[in-house]
Amino acid sequence: MPVTVIVGAQWGDEGKGKVVDLLGDEAQVVVRYQGGNNAGHTIENERGRFALHLVPSGICNPDTTAIIGNGVVIDPSALRAEIDELESRGVSTANLKISGNAHLIMPYHILLDKVREMSLGNKKIGTTRRGIGPAYADKAARVGIRMQDLLDEKIFHQKVQAAMRSKSDILRLVYDQNVAGLEVECDRYLQMAETLRPYIADTSLLLWQAVAAGRSVLFEGAQGTMLDIDHGTYPFVTSSNPVAGFACVGSGIGPTAIDEVWGICKAYCTRVGEGPFPTELLDDTGRRLRDVGHEYGTTTGRERRCGWLDLVALRYAVRVNGMTGLCITKLDVLNDLDEIEVCTGYVSGGQSYDEMPPHQSDFHHAQPLYQSLPGWKADISGVRRWEDLPAEARGYLDFVAESAGCPVVLVSVGPRREETVRVR
Ligand code: IMP
Repeated sequence: MPVTVIVGAQWGDEGKGKVVDLLGDEAQVVVRYQGGNNAGHTIENERGRFALHLVPSGICNPDTTAIIGNGVVIDPSALRAEIDELESRGVSTANLKISGNAHLIMPYHILLDKVREMSLGNKKIGTTRRGIGPAYADKAARVGIRMQDLLDEKIFHQKVQAAMRSKSDILRLVYDQNVAGLEVECDRYLQMAETLRPYIADTSLLLWQAVAAGRSVLFEGAQGTMLDIDHGTYPFVTSSNPVAGFACVGSGIGPTAIDEVWGICKAYCTRVGEGPFPTELLDDTGRRLRDVGHEYGTTTGRERRCGWLDLVALRYAVRVNGMTGLCITKLDVLNDLDEIEVCTGYVSGGQSYDEMPPHQSDFHHAQPLYQSLPGWKADISGVRRWEDLPAEARGYLDFVAESAGCPVVLVSVGPRREETVRVR
């Protein structure tokens, strides 16, 4: 297995966790490169069910090195809780390595995320309120606190005090918040510092050594292409770059090291939070997709918005990620449908589009053009080989691959690991 990036092809929640868990057995190194504990995926294996938010999925395999790269933002309390949960259930975290350059989500970031969302009213982004945006904003403003700052109390205090000066004013004067206990909350991070010290490492070097030695490496993207701060539906996006290109930036490795980019895509579409979603179904079919697909957020428990597969957005995701393979998940959720619609284009402002409209307003007003494909009306969860899928299901997948311009390499037909059809 070469160096592979696993990337969300839609608005997140595509089932990346299952694919990473599956491929993680073959990977010697698994790397998170962006996002923070706004992500969440559940993995199931012989040790039970684990809800991971920050720690890479590969942690359950004792032979795999799990890396949290410099591009991730870390809430130390959330990280500590996740490590404790894993250890208490017999999963060793000895192979977890964390970049000293990864930025910390501070208590004032979480507060700012909450109050900003509240003040936006019906213009809110619908964030996970985990402080992700404010933490990345401070990184760009060069007033962020990094993982390595935890290891030097004096530097930590200096940096927190400098960062807090303007934050306190904003929180007090603009958002009418009581900031009295905030600095004490920041200091609590120092109490965790010694227990986190063993995990902090030069992860860029570790990764380079692994690649040079020909080890198999899996980059585990969080969120999805349409939530990318540069390439997604800005401003209704997360504050990092989920796209495959950022695997390099967020881990400290060059683009020539990457061999494969696999995009994970549900057989339909979902989105949490606000923002445009042309194929959203507000009717019984949408509710049915939500019920059958259990479309509720793992991190926040929110109901996901559901709709038909958007092939315009998928083709775009294939392009901006340079995808070499598509993994279609949750195909079984469509089992009972007579007809399945797929969006092959949009109409907006009297113009038709078969690629993403470059202007935001055209995308916001995009009306989907659908093609109807026949359903298979059969339980496919027991299928393990491509040739055993019903002809209509193969037809559906072939249509998706052809329209997206990328071959299907894996199909998921149920939540369990074995409920998978490997095409390659
Ligand atoms: P933030 O990442 O918490 O700032 O939220 C920004 C947007 O990204 C919101 O619409 C969130 O619902 C969405 N988002 C963040 N993380 C995920 C995820 O893991 N899956 C799906 N949506 C996400």
